[in-house]
Amino acid sequence: MSGRRVLVVGKGGREHALARRLLESESVAEVLVAPGNAGTEASPLGSSKRLASADGAPLEVAKAFRPDLVVVGPEAPLCEGLVDELQAAGFLAYGPSRAAARLEGSKAFLKEFAVRHGINTPRHVTVRSEAELAPALAQFAEPPVVKADGLCAGKGVIVATSHEQARSAALEMLSGRAFGAAGRTLVLEERVYGSEVSVHAISDGRHAWLLPFVQDHKRLADNDRGPNTGGMGTYGPVALPEPELAAHIRSRIIEPIVAGMAEAGTPFRGTIFANLMLVPGAAPTLFEVNTRFGDPETQILMNLLQGDLCELLSSAARGELGQGRDVLAPPQRHALCVILAAHGYPGELRLGDPIRGLEAVAAQEDVLVYHAGTRRQGEQTLTAGGRVLGVTGVGRTLEQARQRAYAAADSIEFAGKQLRRDIGIAALGSAAPPGGGVPVSPISVPGQG
Ligand code: GLY
Repeated sequence: MSGRRVLVVGKGGREHALARRLLESESVAEVLVAPGNAGTEASPLGSSKRLASADGAPLEVAKAFRPDLVVVGPEAPLCEGLVDELQAAGFLAYGPSRAAARLEGSKAFLKEFAVRHGINTPRHVTVRSEAELAPALAQFAEPPVVKADGLCAGKGVIVATSHEQARSAALEMLSGRAFGAAGRTLVLEERVYGSEVSVHAISDGRHAWLLPFVQDHKRLADNDRGPNTGGMGTYGPVALPEPELAAHIRSRIIEPIVAGMAEAGTPFRGTIFANLMLVPGAAPTLFEVNTRFGDPETQILMNLLQGDLCELLSSAARGELGQGRDVLAPPQRHALCVILAAHGYPGELRLGDPIRGLEAVAAQEDVLVYHAGTRRQGEQTLTAGGRVLGVTGVGRTLEQARQRAYAAADSIEFAGKQLRRDIGIAALGSAAPPGGGVPVSPISVPGQG
């Protein structure tokens, strides 16, 4: 099989979506996902394309597979320095270095970075010991949000409703009982109210390209009730309430991140995923940065982006993004993803339930079923993780994309299936028109290009 080979590291819906989209690049013949899931297991796609999964340590898999490009999906291997290791071994790897991934790996680092570079972020205090806690809490009139400094698989943020709740959550973290070393430093942050938007930018260390804006739905149940999750559904492109906000986000948030990291000698090559709060009448507020594609944001983005994804990510990894500006074009359609979660998610999971209805949906046009927590057992596909599938509909309108996603989601069955019924509902009628309303535009950092 001739053509380029790409290794995608990870096992979620994000990685399945990246793998499928990478295979659409004309030059790509083979994508291997390590470790992958039931959706990425060996499947010939026509005579010249192949998707497969591989077990083993990513570096060892890379040495055996000899990919032309490695794309690292999740935050943990990025923060542990997998991209540095891959590069040292001679591979072209897309994703930030360990030093640059600190933007996600340490909340305290991010907050200090944002303040130093004039990026609007909620007021905060970093706490490193029990002795610092009481005076820190006293600085907040309203109960603050308590954030473990390190990676906690999406569980390290406590939105407290009283000072007492904030105090006990903080004590659990500082003692190491809640999240081990990741919680021994924490950040208290002023709570802000507004609507969240997920902003992704591809950076080569000097330039960045803004991708279409996407909206996630983090709570488990309809109308934003229930516990926080990794994300129960997404849609895009999102229309911003004021068009000039896009330029503000570009020049006051994304560009300072790229420039600040370059100035510090830790240039950021990879995906900057900024979680912003849009507050009416105020500047957008940065409350988190992830240093990878969002999940399930990617399940939308891979259906909105045009052009050659392999070329785009390879250019960014080489530090040459500025040379390929015409890879992206404005989105021509809408996409909406509904997550089907396992019984018990996001708490104690029951796994191993057979999934029915996948074959019929696979044949449907404009529906893509991205696997996440799934595994094969003989002829069956079983639930194997909290978020099981991301059922994505695409269409000329958000309504059409939504209708397709839900029709498919309803035809897939497994015991204990959980899903939200209100993904994208608040945006119906106000969504950005295809090809307009949302910028997909290259940006470059002044003085850096
Ligand atoms: N969907 C949120 C995240 O990927 O962190």
